[in-house]
Amino acid sequence: MFDTTSLAHLPKPAQYEALATQAHALMAGEHNLIANAANLSALVMSSLPDLNWAGFYLYDGTELVLGPFQGKPACLRIALNLGVCGKAATTGQTQLVPDVHAFPGHIACDAASRSELVVPLLQHGKLLGVWDVDSPVLNRFDAIDQTGMQALCKIFLSSLLPE
Ligand code: SME
Repeated sequence: MFDTTSLAHLPKPAQYEALATQAHALMAGEHNLIANAANLSALVMSSLPDLNWAGFYLYDGTELVLGPFQGKPACLRIALNLGVCGKAATTGQTQLVPDVHAFPGHIACDAASRSELVVPLLQHGKLLGVWDVDSPVLNRFDAIDQTGMQALCKIFLSSLLPE
């Protein structure tokens, strides 16, 4: 099958270039949301250093419901007015949180998490869900991660549409 290796030895921009290429290859010809979401979670978690959670929450029309992910079991449902995920979903803006303890209302699914990045997923302007990555390292994510994760989310969203 598809072999993933740690990209930790590469500079960050190169990590995301490699991930984008791999994500394209993994999702080529497949439009199933669950299948592609599961594989993107596995790809990112097995490739990037210092992550303890990577995955999806999907909007069910009322709240965010846990989707495919890698990491410890997580909160099942997140109301739209709660947490970093809820903020990303309601604002439509990526949330880069250097210190989760300093984010009012942060939901600690894994007590080890210290920083977090959440990208909203919008399909034709409608909320599909959010992509969430957590790290046990304070200040793990920066603008390069934000741009890189947003690019991966774009590849994921495009994969769901027929060619
Ligand atoms: N920390 C998130 C909840 C999801 S877990 O991190 C997997 C939040 O505050 O919305």
